[in-house]
Amino acid sequence: MGIEDLEKNDRVISFKQNLAIQELVDELRDKNTDPIKFRKGLNKLGRYMGYELSKTFDYEVIDIETPVTHTKGVRISDKDNIVMINILRAAIPFIEGFYKVFPKARAGIISAWRGPAPESKITVEYVKVPKTTKNDIIMIGDPMLATGHTISRIIDEVKGRGDFKRIIVVAVISAPEGIKEILSKHKDVEVVTAVIDEKLNEKNYIVPGLGDAGDRCFGEPIKK
Ligand code: URA
Repeated sequence: MGIEDLEKNDRVISFKQNLAIQELVDELRDKNTDPIKFRKGLNKLGRYMGYELSKTFDYEVIDIETPVTHTKGVRISDKDNIVMINILRAAIPFIEGFYKVFPKARAGIISAWRGPAPESKITVEYVKVPKTTKNDIIMIGDPMLATGHTISRIIDEVKGRGDFKRIIVVAVISAPEGIKEILSKHKDVEVVTAVIDEKLNEKNYIVPGLGDAGDRCFGEPIKK
């Protein structure tokens, strides 16, 4: 399955055609973009992608009284049932953008990381997610969908804790490998990504990508 096939898959939405989103991603890619601008960019991307995503939500038609007359309008009912799962650390500013669009969203926080290649061992340490029901749209946010192994583990954790209406992985940059991993391991999960990049390199970084999203947001941590 090539990038074009993934873009056509009905469980994948990418925003290649949206120039505003594209431009923001390209600002993040630039190695000279500093952490302040990087975090602001992620926040804006969360907002723009949240607006785009709400086009796929269920809504009801309502009656409205304007000062002039009666008319019909919409209320996006799904907005009442959003659960945003924040994967530490780079998802923090990204998810913050989604909250601007879905202010009533309930919050979950998970810390998970992948050790260095070639072992790429996944550790999930902290899982705090709210109880979910069959009405809930659970969005799992991570700016970078690389191998998909960590997110796949997180999806298992989330599924083990309640029901759901939709589970959507929201990412800024995805590698084809990661999308394929999610689609094949979880037949009931969708992927929404600003862009789909070429591939992973030998260290499992996305190419061309933007480097380590956590470090770009918050600076490099001290290694113990
Ligand atoms: N995580 C990152 O932060 N960057 C990548 O390229 C892959 C995973």
